[in-house]
Amino acid sequence: MSGVFAISEKILTKHLEVGGQTLLAGEVKVSGAKNSALVLLAATLLTKELVKIENVPELTDIDVMSELLSASGAKIFREKNHISVQTNQLSTKPLPDKLVHALRASFVCIGPLLARNGEVKMPLPGGCQIGKRPVDLHVKALSALGAHVEVNNGIVHAKVINKNRQLIGANIKFNFQSVGATETIIMAASLAKGETIIKNAAQEPEIQDLANMLNSMGAKIHGAGTSTITIHGVSKLHGCEYSVIPDRIEAGTFLIAAAITRSPLFIYPIIPNHLDALISKLNECGCSTTILNNGIKIIPSKIKSVNISTSPFPGFPTDLQAPFMALMSTAEGTSIFKENIFEDRMKHVNELKKMGANIDLIDEKTAIVKGVNKLHGGTVLGSDLRSAAAMVLAGLFAEGTSHIEGLHHLDRGYEKFEDKLVSVGARLTRYFSGRNAQPLKSQCQETNSQSSPFEPEVA
Ligand code: EPZ
Repeated sequence: MSGVFAISEKILTKHLEVGGQTLLAGEVKVSGAKNSALVLLAATLLTKELVKIENVPELTDIDVMSELLSASGAKIFREKNHISVQTNQLSTKPLPDKLVHALRASFVCIGPLLARNGEVKMPLPGGCQIGKRPVDLHVKALSALGAHVEVNNGIVHAKVINKNRQLIGANIKFNFQSVGATETIIMAASLAKGETIIKNAAQEPEIQDLANMLNSMGAKIHGAGTSTITIHGVSKLHGCEYSVIPDRIEAGTFLIAAAITRSPLFIYPIIPNHLDALISKLNECGCSTTILNNGIKIIPSKIKSVNISTSPFPGFPTDLQAPFMALMSTAEGTSIFKENIFEDRMKHVNELKKMGANIDLIDEKTAIVKGVNKLHGGTVLGSDLRSAAAMVLAGLFAEGTSHIEGLHHLDRGYEKFEDKLVSVGARLTRYFSGRNAQPLKSQCQETNSQSSPFEPEVA
C-alpha cells in the first residue's frame, strides 16, 4: 500500500473509544525508534550500494519517508519491519510538496542529496501543531560547509558552489541543540572534503544510532552522543545491514500508561540510559522500577506530583511532556510543567481539562497541574502525535468511556499502539467514519479481571 494512500486511509478513522478505570497487566514489546528509522532511511541516499535496515516500525511517517526516497530515485523493498534501499542514480527533480509537507523530518534529506548531487531543491517542511519549526540552523550550517542556499516562495534551493561541487568540512557551532540540524550536518559532512567539528550538537540516542550506521558504511564520525562531534569526510560510503534501536519515547509512553492506571507492566526491549530522565521522575512520583534483562518492570503505588521541565537529551524529553501531564493530572499535589523545546506544545491542556483535569496555563510554555481524584470520560482531540497518546492514557484512568479523535497523529508514531494496550487489558475500539470497527479483543481481558494484583487506586 503506498504511503500517501495509507495516510488517507488512516485519516478516515473517526475516533478511538477507550474504556475507563482499566487495570493493565503483562508485558509490552517496544518497536524500533521512529525518530531513528526516519533519519537512517534518509542516510541510505548517501551510497549507491544496498542498505538493509531491520526493526523499522510500520508507521505512516515511514510510509512517507519511503515515498520520498523513491521520489529521489531509490529502489525500495519493504516487508513488515525490514526495509532495503538502493539508490544507484539520484533524481535531480525537486522533492514533491505533498510528501515534504506531510513529514517534517523529510527536511533531513537535504544533507544526503546535497552531498551526493551537489545541488538540491525541496519545499520548506512547514510548521506543525507544536510550533513554527524553522530550519534556519540547517541552512546556516550547510552554508558553512560551502553550499549556497536560497529560500524563495517556500522552496529551498541549495547548491555547492566550489568548482568540484564537493562540500568542504568546517567548524560549526549550533546556538541550540537541534536534533534535525545535527543529523543534517552529520550526513552532509560524511562525504565532505576534510574535517567538520560540530559544537553544541544534539546528544539524543537517535544521533548515536545514525553515527553508528554511517560508521558501519565507512564514515568516520566520533563523539556522537556528546555535544562535540567530529566528522572526517570520506570519498564514498558502502552499503550495510543495520537494526534500529528500540523507541525510547514509545517505551516511556507505556511506562506512563502503567503509572496512570496504577498497574504493573514489563516493557522491553529498552536501552536503560535512554530513559534515565523519565525513570527518575517515575521513581520520584511513586513508582518502583527495576531493570530486568533487556527490559524494565514498573510497579506504581500512590502517585505524587513532581515538576517537569523539558530539555534536550539527556534531560526530560519534550515528547513525553504531554503523556506525563496526563499522569500528573491524577496525582496527589501540584506540579509545574515547563515546555522549553517547542513554543506551542500545550494543546493537550484544554483537552485534559475537558476530562476534569485541574490545569492552569500560565503562558504558552508553563502549566500548573493540580492533581484530582477523578477524571471523567469525554470526547477529546489529540492535536499532535504525543498529545493523542496522552489522551488515550487519560481515558484509561477516567471514569466512563472516552472518545479520542486525531488518531492519524497516533498512527504516525506508535506501531500497533492499540493492539499493544489491548494485549495487557485495555478496552479499545477504533471507529471508522461510516462503519464501526469490531472491538479489539484482548486475549488476557478475562484473566486480567481475575488475576489483577492491584486494586485500582483512586488517587
Ligand atoms: C526531533 O524534531 C524529533 N523528530 C521530535 O519528535 C522531537 O520532539 C525533537 O527532535 C526534540 O527532541 C524527529 O526526530 C523526526 P529540533 P526536530 O530541531 O529535529 C528549533 C515526535 O513527537 N529549531 O531539535 O525538528 C525548533 O523549532 C517529534 O516524535 C530552530 O529554531 O527538533 C524547536 O523549537 C516531535 N531552527 C527546537 O529547535 C532549526 O533550524 C528543537 O527542534 C531547527 C530547530
